[in-house]
Amino acid sequence: MAVLAMSWLGCGSHDESAPAPSQPPGWDEAIRLTPSQDRNSDPNVVEIDLEAKPTDLSIISGGPTATWTYDGRLPGPLIRAKIGDRVIVHFTNRLPEQTTIHWHGLRVPAAMDGMPGQSQPPIATNASFDYDFIVPDASTFWYHPHLNSAAQVGDGLYGAFIVDDPAEPAGLGDEVVFVLSDMSLNEDGSLQAPDAGGDIATLFGREGGTLLVNGKVRPTLKARPGLPQRWRFINAARTRYYQLSFPNHSFVRIGGDGGLLTEPIAVDEPVLAPAERADLIVVPQGTPGSDVVVRWVAFDRGWGTTFNRPPEDLFVVHFEGEPAETPKLPAIHRKIDPLSTDGATPIDLSLTWQTGTTPLVLGINNVPFDQSTPLMATVGETQVWTLDNTMDWAHPFHLHGFFFQVLEPPRPLEWKDTVNVPAHETVRFVVRYDERPGMWMFHCHILDHAEAGMMGSLMLMDPPR
Ligand code: C2O
Ligand code: CU
Repeated sequence: MAVLAMSWLGCGSHDESAPAPSQPPGWDEAIRLTPSQDRNSDPNVVEIDLEAKPTDLSIISGGPTATWTYDGRLPGPLIRAKIGDRVIVHFTNRLPEQTTIHWHGLRVPAAMDGMPGQSQPPIATNASFDYDFIVPDASTFWYHPHLNSAAQVGDGLYGAFIVDDPAEPAGLGDEVVFVLSDMSLNEDGSLQAPDAGGDIATLFGREGGTLLVNGKVRPTLKARPGLPQRWRFINAARTRYYQLSFPNHSFVRIGGDGGLLTEPIAVDEPVLAPAERADLIVVPQGTPGSDVVVRWVAFDRGWGTTFNRPPEDLFVVHFEGEPAETPKLPAIHRKIDPLSTDGATPIDLSLTWQTGTTPLVLGINNVPFDQSTPLMATVGETQVWTLDNTMDWAHPFHLHGFFFQVLEPPRPLEWKDTVNVPAHETVRFVVRYDERPGMWMFHCHILDHAEAGMMGSLMLMDPPR
């Protein structure tokens, strides 16, 4: 499978005189995200209004679901800008409780990062807050609340945020942005309580039984056989890991959390831990008129997480139109310099569980977030973080504000903001702090775990003068 994908990378020719073949009419209509409305005429400023509010949506046939949404949409509107743009979000909270927005992966100033009580005050019901920042990096990002987040994200608050690089080569395939999530629904469509299942459910992390692709159950995407598509996936689920299976197909991964890779990697069944992103190229191949279903496959994230779990449908790919010749993938040249670890400060963290406490308490170095003191760092400093997972379950670890490079276990060089730490394993990464002093967060992105205490803060100081 991998061999097929790699040979596709290097083959193909194109007849310049023929009209370029295209995807079937309305190919992505059932799945396309609604973009936000830019109300600023300056081409380098994206200025939008955004409102969080309760919204009744029809998700399953049993009855309506009282979701929480951005702008009444599930997921929220797709925010799109280009490198260097200024983004202004006039945000209003119409939820019955306070909230904030965290711009996951975006290197914004600390004051715009959405951590209540650390980088900004919580935004009360009917209050507004203007987020205003420059977007320095191109990639697939997302946004979500950072208060009562297991409940607020679980009930529907998340959206995609893409930053384009105008210098990126054209011809990487027709783009689809997929926000993957799940919801815990009763048969009548009502939402289960965010604490349903108690401590045991918190310990496993809550996986909703209804799998959603851009807010829909099992939507259909059309594809012209042979024509590449670029699938950008965002895992916005509270807990669920996604291992993606597209039978008879393999993918070429060109990017992840922090933009493009230095070179494409062939992958059969990509895995996205909570909050991770993947930028994939795929060449759908199938008989016109036929369907192939892209499925979720259980990923072993620790004790009991794969037992008795058959694959589940995510979305349908429907083949339409005469097979087209596959164009050659343009070369991608992303240069990433490995960060030097010379003189780096070691930071040793273990991801822990205080057994025997009710309610369940998770922590970092045995300290839950509400009792923790911030780690310290200085602008310009390099640190090597060692994350030691002492538990029987994996934790997707996220650092706010700064990309890092994973050192161990060894893997191809890329910029990451979220990394999976498998059960009873150790992950090391190197991070260098740029000029954005302030308070930053780090936590497990299984949001039930973060809320149970697996979170900490980092105070980044200006260097002494
Ligand atoms: Cu997407 Cu603090 O997280
Ligand atoms: Cu966790």
